[in-house]
Amino acid sequence: MIVVGATLYNFAIPSQLKAWIDRLVQAGRTFQYTEKGPQGLAGGKIVIVASTRGGVYSTSEGGRAMEHQESYLQTVFGFLGITDIRFVRAEGLAMGEVHRARAITAAELDIRALVTEAANEPSAARAA
Ligand SMILES: Cc1cc2nc3c(=O)[nH]c(=O)nc-3n(C[C@H](O)[C@H](O)[C@H](O)COP(=O)(O)O)c2cc1C
Repeated sequence: MIVVGATLYNFAIPSQLKAWIDRLVQAGRTFQYTEKGPQGLAGGKIVIVASTRGGVYSTSEGGRAMEHQESYLQTVFGFLGITDIRFVRAEGLAMGEVHRARAITAAELDIRALVTEAANEPSAARAA
């Protein structure tokens, strides 16, 4: 399981996170080119992205089209063969106290949902 902290900087991810991805995504190591096209070599993992944003992007088509943070991470990890990507999101953090409190509550609900989901997964039952 990989947990990624990804704040939204100018509609994308921070340069520090990008630098990590540039080290991670390497032909022959985490993906390879085959006759049928690129193939991810890092499957079988769960990625949890803790996503924060000053504004709100998830509730409109226009907002979703503007953000290249969650959509980009989905593409990158998908390219590496990781299809189980889960998001914990706090957005609207810079829009005043009411929005901020609502965002934290939403993120806490996301976390609770993840924990419930994990408890019901077969691998959790095996571990128990
Ligand atoms: C350099 C910089 C660029 C940012 N760009 C965006 C942006 O494009 N959209 C947005 O919603 N928030 C943006 N933010 C706000 C951050 O996403 C926000 O600070 C972050 O979610 C963490 O919240 P906090 O500062 O209250 O801890 C930016 C912040 C910084 C410092």
